[in-house]
Amino acid sequence: MEQKKVLGISFGRKMSNTDVMVKTALMECEKAGYKVKFLRGDDLDIKPCTGCISCVVGMTTGRGKGGCPLKDDFHILDEALMECDAVIVGCPTYVLSPTGKFKIVCDRIGPSHDITFRKATYDEGIAAGKSPDTLPDPRSFKKRVGALISVGGAMTKNWLAFMLPTMYEFTMSMGIDVVDMHEYHGAMGYEHVLGNDKQMERMRLMGQNVASALQADTEEERVRWRGEQQGVCPVCHCNMLTVSEDGSSVECPVCGIRGTASMEDGKLKVAFSEAEQKRSRLHWDGKLEHSTEIKTRAVSPGQIPDLAERKKPYIGYAEQDW
Ligand SMILES: Cc1cc2nc3c(=O)[nH]c(=O)nc-3n(C[C@H](O)[C@H](O)[C@H](O)COP(=O)(O)O)c2cc1C
Repeated sequence: MEQKKVLGISFGRKMSNTDVMVKTALMECEKAGYKVKFLRGDDLDIKPCTGCISCVVGMTTGRGKGGCPLKDDFHILDEALMECDAVIVGCPTYVLSPTGKFKIVCDRIGPSHDITFRKATYDEGIAAGKSPDTLPDPRSFKKRVGALISVGGAMTKNWLAFMLPTMYEFTMSMGIDVVDMHEYHGAMGYEHVLGNDKQMERMRLMGQNVASALQADTEEERVRWRGEQQGVCPVCHCNMLTVSEDGSSVECPVCGIRGTASMEDGKLKVAFSEAEQKRSRLHWDGKLEHSTEIKTRAVSPGQIPDLAERKKPYIGYAEQDW
């Protein structure tokens, strides 16, 4: 059997904390017998998504395979992602959230790699007798696991507030099952993570956790949560909630699922039903719900017959110098 592959990607500075943390986890995977590869987000010339949505339109019309017309280094990351069986993603905190480059990469992965769009296009194409090389890459449907590493310089954890929830944007559309995540806050209290034994040990454990998920012989064991934080959401294990307008329910903003909150013995308890957990956007059903709403409800050009006329007053408006 072909040796499984683990991809590590860091959005940090060269050879700084995040690079070394991702590489430490990779080293454990290599020790466990897996092939490893490391990429640095900032070494890749990846352009921002222009919003043309030709990736999705191509798939929904059966004419495309989820590709992007932009010409840059994205294909290097894409090929590594398609080839890997596990991915370990590390990112520094820039103003409470992951870096701009991280977000650019997530947008480029986003809808174009959504497994529900890709699978429908693939299956319909095969049924119609199309050549597989005109269809989405079948490696997109490989079961993969992931691990997320958030790094922040601040001593106070809430200065990394949006990190882990946002980092799910990397794995979400590809349906990669995150089995571990870790947040290192207070990085500026050390010259380098190499001087922080506790963090280095945690990264070795992350590598072992990813390796153990790859070794699993049941689906339950493969996706078993290995992170230290159980979190308020039983699906993504994050600790973030939003409150519904009428205040009657809460929502996990990562999964998009509703739960009910109550206080028990002075502690906040949040319950998410099995049905809601199943429709998390980290799972197939939640993604399908979304791709179906786009396919069935997004309108084609022509709905507003005089749109060009209506746009006229806005063309170039206030775009001159002060
Ligand atoms: C523009 C910018 C904004 C930052 N904002 C935050 C922040 O909001 N919270 C935080 O914990 N650290 C923040 N930091 C610190 C970085 O997260 C920290 O230096 C981290 O170690 C960088 O990762 P690296 O060493 O792998 O490059 C910021 C750094 C920069 C450059």
